[in-house]
This record gives sequence, C-alpha cells and structure tokens, in this order.
Amino acid sequence: MAKAVVILGAQWGDEGKGKIVDALTEKADVVARYQGGHNAGHTVVIGEETFILHLIPSGILHEDKLCIIGNGVVINPSALIEEINGLKERGIKVNRNLRISKNAHLIMPYHMAIEREKEALKGKKKIGTTGRGIGPAYMDKMARVGIRVADLLYPEVLKEKIEANLRDVNFLLSNLYKADTFTTEEIYNEYIGYAEILANYIDDTDILINRLLDEGKNVLFEGAQGTLLDIDHGTYPYVTSSSATAGGVCTGLGIGPTKIDTVLGVVKAYTTRVGGGPFPTEIHDEFGEKLRERGGEFGATTGRPRRCGWLDMVALRHAVRINGLGGLIITKLDILDGLEKIKVCFGYEYNGKVYEDFPKELSVLEGCKPIYKEYEGWHEATLGVNEYDALPDNAKKYIEMIEDSLGVPVDIISTGQKRDDIIIRKVHFD
Ligand code: IMP
Repeated sequence: MAKAVVILGAQWGDEGKGKIVDALTEKADVVARYQGGHNAGHTVVIGEETFILHLIPSGILHEDKLCIIGNGVVINPSALIEEINGLKERGIKVNRNLRISKNAHLIMPYHMAIEREKEALKGKKKIGTTGRGIGPAYMDKMARVGIRVADLLYPEVLKEKIEANLRDVNFLLSNLYKADTFTTEEIYNEYIGYAEILANYIDDTDILINRLLDEGKNVLFEGAQGTLLDIDHGTYPYVTSSSATAGGVCTGLGIGPTKIDTVLGVVKAYTTRVGGGPFPTEIHDEFGEKLRERGGEFGATTGRPRRCGWLDMVALRHAVRINGLGGLIITKLDILDGLEKIKVCFGYEYNGKVYEDFPKELSVLEGCKPIYKEYEGWHEATLGVNEYDALPDNAKKYIEMIEDSLGVPVDIISTGQKRDDIIIRKVHFD
C-alpha cells in the first residue's frame, strides 16, 4: 500500500485535482504543494459550500491534516493572508496545521508590473498568463536575486534585497516600459507587515516532511497546473514557469525520488486549456461552447472561459511517460453523458507525416490535424454514480479504452462535483 502519493494534472491544468485531493486526504496525514503559486484554483465542493483554494493545499479543509507549502512554490504573501483569513472566517482552522517553507520565493509587486508590461508588448503572441507575477518571480529565483520567505524574518536583509532589485527593476519599468516605478520604503513597509502575520507559519519544511515520511505518515503531494504547462515538458513557451510534472515534487519539497510510492495523473474525460498556445484537439464550432457550458469551464482563478476539446491520447501518452504515471483518475465523465458520438485523438498529421509521440516543435503542434477515432456515447446519466458496475456499458468501454491505450489503470472516476460523486476502484492509502 502506498504511503507517499503524487496527484498531478496530466493535461493543461483544470482537470479537477482539488476534488480528488480532497477525497484522498481523508486517509492522508499530510498534504503538500510543491510548485506554482496563486495562479492555481482548486475547487472543492463540500455539501452546499464551495471552496476555491489557490495557495493552501486542499487538505486544509479536513481537520487535523498537516498542510505544507514547499520551497518550489512562489508566494504572494498578500494573497496567502487573504486566503488564510477567508478560510478562518468560514470556520476552517488555520494555524500550526499550515507550514510554509523558508526557501519558497516571494512574489513582489514589481513582478506583477513586469508581467503586465511583458504580456502587453507580446501582443497577439501573449501567453495569456493569470497575471499573478508567477513568471517574473521564477525568473528572479533562477537569476539568483529572488527574495525568499526566510528573508521576511530578517528586516535588514529584506530591505537590502528590495533596494538592490529595484535598481534594475525601476530602470526597466521607466526606460523600457514607460511604466510607474516603486520605492524601497513602500514595498518594505508592506512586506514587513506580512512578515508579522506569517512568522508563525514559517518552517524548515524539508526537515519536517522527511521526518514525517520516515515516520511512515501518509503524504499526498498536490500538483498545480498540469503536465502540458510544465516549464520543461509542456507546450513551451505557452507554459507556466514551474515544474508541474512529477520531478517537481523532489526539488519543490526537498525529498528524494526513492520516497515517492506512486504518481497518479488526473485526466479530464475531455480536454480544456485556458490562455494562449497550441491545442490540437480544440473544438471550434458551437459544440465547443456547449461543452464549456455543460462542464462549467470557466477559470477558477481568473474566470476566463476555457477552450474545450476532445480527449488527446498523444498528449496523454506524453504525460504517462514524463511522470511515470502508476494510475489514472478520470474526472467529469458525467459531462459527456448523452452525447451521440465521442471523438478521441490518437495521432497528429502534419505535412504528410503522422506523429504518435507528442511533438516538441511549436510549429507542428500549432499546424497539425488530429487523427480521431469515434466511439458510441451513452444515454444514461453517470452523474453521481459511485460503483463502477453501475456505469453505462459505453462509459465503461470509454474508460477501458483509455486504460488499454495508455497501459495504465484507471483507479478513480469522478462523476460529479460533490464529494460523494466518485468511484474508487483502488484505495491508495491504508
Ligand atoms: P502563469 O502561470 O500565470 O504564468 O500562466 C501561464 C499559462 O498557464 C497561462 O496559459 C495560464 O492560463 C496557465 N495557467 C496557470 N495556472 C493555471 C491553472 O491553475 N490552471 C490552468 N491553467 C493555468
């Protein structure tokens, strides 16, 4: 039985990870985030209440679970405090059950300003980011000028770093972008205020998580975004700036790969993407809009309409390979209820060549034609079904087609928004 389980997105994010993490958290002791920031929006519906979590692991909604924000995450302290306060106001306990890595990098106000200007300059080629300053924060981390959570605890260091960074940043903002600049005092005063509020949550999370793993605790690693948005393995440059694939768990928390028992990929029963970039199986006619309406496909963070398309096996084979997926979790199966035919893509055609492996070249991804097979749909509702055998035959065939063509078992199927709308075929924690 697994003890340390990764749950990550196998497509372009928005696969419905929040609900799945919430379901598995019942048997977990610890839930940890390892990358991304408040660009994520993890929706969990409990009874009549809907929670959207951005930075804090979804495990916080369960009492007595420890939640960790690892070093690989970038943190906007203002957004984090707002999220903590919002949860507390709704009666959720947030105190020592939330630990934040000293090594996590901070998103600063100038990161958002730079991102805004960069995106505006790109015009039609813009990435369509969430506008949260994620990219520039990771840029500073890699450029070795980032400001980390631990710096909040050392006012002099914090001030010095802000001052040093503003020398470059203000030059760029005023000369290249003709935009407003920042003063050290305004940022320092704002951030030193956050320091006071966040101090109690700051920890050596690498030491903590390794100790908990050594003690045999059940740990769930909660991925944000998805494989195709990964900085290395996604549809670059139309990606986010973090390692959303399984490798990110190790660097983003400070644990060795030998500590991970299995990696589960969350796959929406169709495909969506938000923002710019290639999307071979995108549906451009009114059926795409219908799917968006039926699936409630609007961004949990930005409210933007998501682009909708058919299931893409080329992309999923890539996700299985890159992440070493040991199991799949299919979500939103119910959204396909009542369709006459369902298309699934098994290859791309570009300039007379057929691609069965996910191409690296943006030109191929942008110009290819998907090669589809058609499957019979099902008329009965799968909404709320929680036993595999109770699924309509054609829905079972769809699930088995996914298993067979990817060579990975489907362990869990989500059949609706509510906590109980779920079929669990394999239990991952004891
Ligand atoms: P960024 O992460 O804000 O830099 O945005 C980069 C790309 O990733 C854009 O296409 C965003 O729409 C997309 N993105 C970022 N976070 C999420 C997410 O949580 N779900 C889906 N797409 C996301």
